[in-house]
This record gives sequence, C-alpha cells and structure tokens, in this order.
Amino acid sequence: MARISEIIFPRVTGLVITCDSQGKPNIATFSFLMPISFEPKYVAFSVSPKRKTFENLREVGEFVLAIPSREMLDKVWGCGTQSGRDVDKFSLLGLERERAKTVKPPLVKSFPVQLECKVEFMKEFGDHYLVVGRVLEEHITKLDFEPVLHYSKNIFFVPSEKITV
Ligand SMILES: Cc1cc2nc3c(=O)[nH]c(=O)nc-3n(C[C@H](O)[C@H](O)[C@H](O)COP(=O)(O)O)c2cc1C
Repeated sequence: MARISEIIFPRVTGLVITCDSQGKPNIATFSFLMPISFEPKYVAFSVSPKRKTFENLREVGEFVLAIPSREMLDKVWGCGTQSGRDVDKFSLLGLERERAKTVKPPLVKSFPVQLECKVEFMKEFGDHYLVVGRVLEEHITKLDFEPVLHYSKNIFFVPSEKITV
C-alpha cells in the first residue's frame, strides 16, 4: 500500500520552532502542513507524538513557522532527521536565533517567511496530532522564492514553472 505522503504530494515544507517551559528552543521539519484561513490567518500541521516538538507544544502552546527556500534544503534535512532531545540543531546547523515579538520560541535569521503563532487546537488523529495555530505576527523578507516541496522520505521537488490559468 502506498504511503499517504506518496498519494498527496508535493507538500511545502516548513520548519516549526518551539521551546520547552525552561525556554530551551528546538526546530524541526514538517510537510504535513497547510494554510487554513485568510483573515485572520490560521495555519495547521500534523505532528507525531514521538517528536520533541510535540512535547514542547504541550508545554508552551506557541510556535514559529518558518518557510525555507530551496537553498536551505540541507537545513530542512538536518532539522528533520535529528531530534532536539539529542542535539542542539541551531548550533549544529549554524542557525542564528533572534527574539520573536509575541511568542516565546525564537525566530531564525535568513528564512524568507516566518509566522509567530499561538496554538488554538490540538487533537489526535491516527498516529499524528493536528495542530492549528493562529498567526499573531508576520515576518516576510521575500515572497518570490522557490520553496522546498516534499514527496516522501528523502525525495523532494522544486517548482520548475509558474503557470497562469
Ligand atoms: C521533509 C520532512 C518532512 C517531515 N514532515 C513531518 C511532519 O509533517 N510531521 C512529523 O511529525 N514529522 C515530520 N518529519 C519528521 C521530523 O522532522 C523529525 O522526526 C525530527 O527529527 C523531529 O525533531 P524533534 O524531535 O526535534 O521535534 C519530517 C521530516 C522531513 C525530513
């Protein structure tokens, strides 16, 4: 049977930055990710309860969603293959943090899009939890960038053409 990630693809990858109750930050990769509402802006992603990110979201119901560009594929992979329980992904991958405006988890320099979000809903569905966050603050430095699109496991796409209907 095909995996759901091989049936519904490609999916934009995002990095979710969280922190624990002591303020220790973490960053991890997510491609079960989507926008939900225009105004106010809401986003959703799905997290396995095995992730450190899940634990952090339970402790501190806030996150930053960062959308990486194609040049950042190595960060996408690095943040998605190691757990914050074992390593400090920020220093390991050379990601520089700065204070967010409204939430406890930090922003990370050099991402074109970063959204400060507050968790408003979290519920178990199968082997993941759906997390819905309300966007409280936007940091957008660039919008004409190429996102990293995920297929499954270690296979990605990049957009090759923009078409208008
Ligand atoms: C491209 C990519 C997409 C991923 N998407 C998800 C996802 O949507 N949900 C999820 O729970 N894990 C996803 N993962 C796995 C987590 O990123 C990975 O388990 C990570 O090590 C978790 O880190 P943490 O324990 O520090 O939270 C993805 C990994 C990669 C490489």
